[in-house]
Amino acid sequence: MYEGYWKLKEKPFENVADSHFLYHSKKHDEALMRMLYAVEEKKGAAMLTGEYGSGKTVLVKEIMNRLEKQVDNYRTVLIINPAIPQLELLGEIIYQLGRSIPVEMKKAELLRSLNDVLHKNIEEDRHVVVIIDEAQAIGKEEVFEELRLLLNLQMGEGFLLTLLLAGQPELGEKMKRLRQFEQRLSIKYHLSALNQEETKGYIHHRCKVAGAGRELFTDVACNLIYTGSGGIPREINNICDISLLLGAGRKVTQINEEIAKEMIEELKGSKLSGAQE
Ligand SMILES: Nc1ncnc2c1ncn2[C@@H]1O[C@H](COP(=O)(O)OP(=O)(O)O)[C@@H](O)[C@H]1O
Ligand SMILES: [Mg+2]
Repeated sequence: MYEGYWKLKEKPFENVADSHFLYHSKKHDEALMRMLYAVEEKKGAAMLTGEYGSGKTVLVKEIMNRLEKQVDNYRTVLIINPAIPQLELLGEIIYQLGRSIPVEMKKAELLRSLNDVLHKNIEEDRHVVVIIDEAQAIGKEEVFEELRLLLNLQMGEGFLLTLLLAGQPELGEKMKRLRQFEQRLSIKYHLSALNQEETKGYIHHRCKVAGAGRELFTDVACNLIYTGSGGIPREINNICDISLLLGAGRKVTQINEEIAKEMIEELKGSKLSGAQE
């Protein structure tokens, strides 16, 4: 809608986890590096935690993209809705590894089939990576237990697969209670919110990727957006998107303090009324 006014090729602040907009903040890069290290070193399991909207799914997408480019070396499985019964989860992993599974397969058969397909990949020199996003949504401890048992499948010194868990901070809390699982997590990273400087860098980066030839937000506006969003990318996107809309309507040349302030107040207001519903 407002792309024409701001001379953009696309909307810069859509809330989709699209890794072509990826802003390499120090934090996002460190998270990425650690997760890829776990994969390359064929570690058993790694965990990425972060608040809702901090950028976990974007990183998961980026990891998937990188691994899918190396199809000869890696086979990836991505589970995005892990709140399913344990057998279904096993079935989904096997299915994504390219095996068809009859509907009523028993657990022992599922495990045999999984073992088989994992060994097959090892024979072909491919490492299997199972990524579970929103892993805090795994409701039952049995499911975690099942995942932990997958890590017991070993060949010689090595694991048959690497498990990457991404989730909101409750995931870390759950893990603390699952001591045996937690001990298996050789790599962990907590993705914290962006700081003021990074928020500014993030805003300008996304505008640039969307085709902006100049800075569309003033420094003061960026600082206000940082305070209003707490440095959480999803919130920054929301504020910036409607600021660009309003700014186009008012025909300003840059998003200034006044517009940013107004939009932050408006979003806060709608959140509060939303909470009362
Ligand atoms: N480093 C980043 N670069 C670009 N966009 C990001 C970054 N981190 C988060 N975002 C954006 O913020 C929004 C929320 O990120 P997401 O990965 O879905 O968060 P989470 O999975 O942690 O809840 C997405 O639209 C995403 O594009
Ligand atoms: Mg997510």
